Amino acid sequence: MEKKRILSGVQPTGSLHLGNWFGAIRNWVTLQEDYETFVCVVDLHAITTPHNPKALAHETLSTAALYISCGMDPQKCSIFIQSHIQFHSELCWLLNCVTPLNWLERMIQFKEKALKQGDNVSVGLLDYPILMAADILLYDADLVPVGEDQKQHLELARDIAQQRINARFGKEGSSVLKIPKPLISKEGARIMSLTDGSKKMSKSDPNENSRISLLDSPELITKKIKKAKTDSFMGLEFDNSDRPEADNLLTIYSLLSDQGKESALEECAGMGWGKFKPLLIDATVSALGPIQEKYNELMDDQTELKSVLQEGRNKAEKVSQKTVERVREALGLIKID
Ligand code: ADP
Ligand code: TRP
Repeated sequence: MEKKRILSGVQPTGSLHLGNWFGAIRNWVTLQEDYETFVCVVDLHAITTPHNPKALAHETLSTAALYISCGMDPQKCSIFIQSHIQFHSELCWLLNCVTPLNWLERMIQFKEKALKQGDNVSVGLLDYPILMAADILLYDADLVPVGEDQKQHLELARDIAQQRINARFGKEGSSVLKIPKPLISKEGARIMSLTDGSKKMSKSDPNENSRISLLDSPELITKKIKKAKTDSFMGLEFDNSDRPEADNLLTIYSLLSDQGKESALEECAGMGWGKFKPLLIDATVSALGPIQEKYNELMDDQTELKSVLQEGRNKAEKVSQKTVERVREALGLIKID
C-alpha cells in the first residue's frame, strides 16, 4: 500500500521556540517514520509582513537547519524552501481567482495581524491563507500536522479544494484536488507565553522573555525561567483555570523530560515553585543541548544543508508540477505541446 502523505511548514520569521517544536516539529519527527513527508520553510509567507531581506535569508537557512537538528531526517523526508518551487505562487493565483473575498476577511489571524499593523497591511497578508492552501494542496497531502492556531486555515484549504475546485471543475464526480485533514496533537498544541499564561508563546511577541528559543544559551534559559510568571499557590497542577502558568510550565516540563503528564504530575505535585523552576531549567538545557550542537555543525559548514535543500527541491518539484497541471487543465488553461 502507498504511504499517506503529510506536508507542513514554518515561517522563517525569527528563531523557533518551544511552541513551534512541541506544536509542530516534534510531531513531524514521529510522523516521518510512517508517512511520506514533505516539510518546507515558508519564506513567501514571511514577506507578507514588513521584513528585512538580510535577516530573511539567514532565518530561512537557520529554520531548515533547525528542522534537521530537531530530528527531521533527510533520508526519510523531503526538506525544501517554498520559494524554490514556483508552483506555490502559481497555484495560489489559480485559487485566488475562485475564492470569495469574504472567506479571507474573516480569518482570525488576518484580523489580528492587520490590527497590529494599522494602515500598512499588504494584499499578501490577506492572501496568506490561500498561499498556505496552495502549499498543502500541491502535494496531495492527506494530513497536515500543525498547532491549534492553524485550524481555521486548514478548514479554508479544505473548503477551497472541495467547494471551489472539485465541485465546480471536477469531471463527472472525480476530484481535481485531494482534501487534506488537520492533525493537531493534544499535548503541545498550544504552549503559552512564559510571561502571561493566557497568551500563546509566539515569535512575534515583543517581549523576549515570553519565549524560550531553541537556540537560547543555558544562561539565557536560566534567566527566562527564573523570571517566568508564577502564582501564590503551593504545588504544581494541570487544568486549574485559575493557574494557567502552572498548567503551562508543568506541560512544558512533561514534554521536555519526555514523560507523560501523569508521571510529571506525580513528580511535581508537591513541589513549590522554588524547587520546580531549577528542575525545569535543567530539563530545558539538557533537551536543547544536542539540538544546538547539531545546528552549529550545519550552519558552520553549510555544504550539507544546501545539498539537502537541493534534493528536497527536486522531489517537491516533481510532485507539485503534476498537481498544478491538473488544476490548469481543469480550469481550461490551454496547453500546446
Ligand atoms: P509563531 O506564531 O510563533 O510566529 P508560526 O506561526 O510560524 O509561529 O507557527 C509555526 C508552527 O508552530 C505552526 O504549526 C503553529 O501552529 C505552531 N505553533 C506556533 N506557536 C505555537 C505555540 N505557542 N504552541 C504550539 N504550537 C505553536
Ligand atoms: N501558516 C503556518 C503558520 O503560521 C505556516 C504554513 C504555511 C503552513 N504553509 C503551510 C503550515 C502549510 C502547514 C502547511 O504556522
